[in-house]
Amino acid sequence: MASVFVTRAVPGDALARLHGAHQVRVWDGPMPPEPAVLREAVADAEGLLCLLTDRVDSALLDAAPRLRAIANYAVGTDNIDLTLTRARGIPVGVTPDVLTEATADLAFALLLAAARRLPQAATDARDGAWRTWEPAQWLGAEVDGAALGIVGYGRIGRAMARRAGGFRMTVRSTADTELDALLAGSDFVSLHCPLTPQTRHLIDAAALRRMRSSAILVNTARGGVVDQAALIDALNAGEIAGAAIDVTDPEPPPPGDPIFTTPNLLVLPHIGSATRTARARMTELAVENLLAGLDGRPMPHPAA
Ligand code: DGY
Repeated sequence: MASVFVTRAVPGDALARLHGAHQVRVWDGPMPPEPAVLREAVADAEGLLCLLTDRVDSALLDAAPRLRAIANYAVGTDNIDLTLTRARGIPVGVTPDVLTEATADLAFALLLAAARRLPQAATDARDGAWRTWEPAQWLGAEVDGAALGIVGYGRIGRAMARRAGGFRMTVRSTADTELDALLAGSDFVSLHCPLTPQTRHLIDAAALRRMRSSAILVNTARGGVVDQAALIDALNAGEIAGAAIDVTDPEPPPPGDPIFTTPNLLVLPHIGSATRTARARMTELAVENLLAGLDGRPMPHPAA
């Protein structure tokens, strides 16, 4: 039996399998463990099931000398220093596929919500600004037949393209088009690339200037892919028409952050994979990864 630390209670039944096979401690705080607390918690851990809110860096790995398997409860791995885990021979597993459709659904929901200005319309309806049927108010953008540019054409980017097909959109992606041309030629730009040193601030002030003034940016990838200050400036200056983002940098933004008062900016609290089915399946995959890693078998869903 190995000693395993799980950094948050995660949905679904699959943790029971882990409890059946190993000695498992689950952090039960309402917030993720602070880094110093996490370091202490993993001092004797051989397995770690962690979340995207936990940083797996050299300080953590140094504090966990017995660690031999890590399962990230996410498909993204930007919270983990993979160079270090590789150097130390610690396998890392992720949760691909099971959250693809849920995340693409949310990206398309954001696209539609921003196109049709749903947050503004809903606020106005609730606040008494709906006096009559308005011929020229709450006008948004037509989605049918519009041009969608997809940045990052992996599983979720392709699932987004499938949804766009139902709306007869013209779809191009960074798999077939240079980023600059994609930005300039799209009515909607949706981000689906991982956050890496190469993609940090990929969408900066210059990239935002390349977009059409009528365009809408959707981000369900990672907040760090966008230069958030530049996005706020671009929206304030009307350089683009709107943005709808499920991810920010940092998460959550501090209270009073201008991101919450920027016009035409819809912000969600990182809920791309938040369906009951996806989150339960993520637990299954994380448990499968950890059980395999602790057994010395290849993880079924290793980090790339
Ligand atoms: C991931 O898996 O990387 C998502 O951001 C959370 O589900």
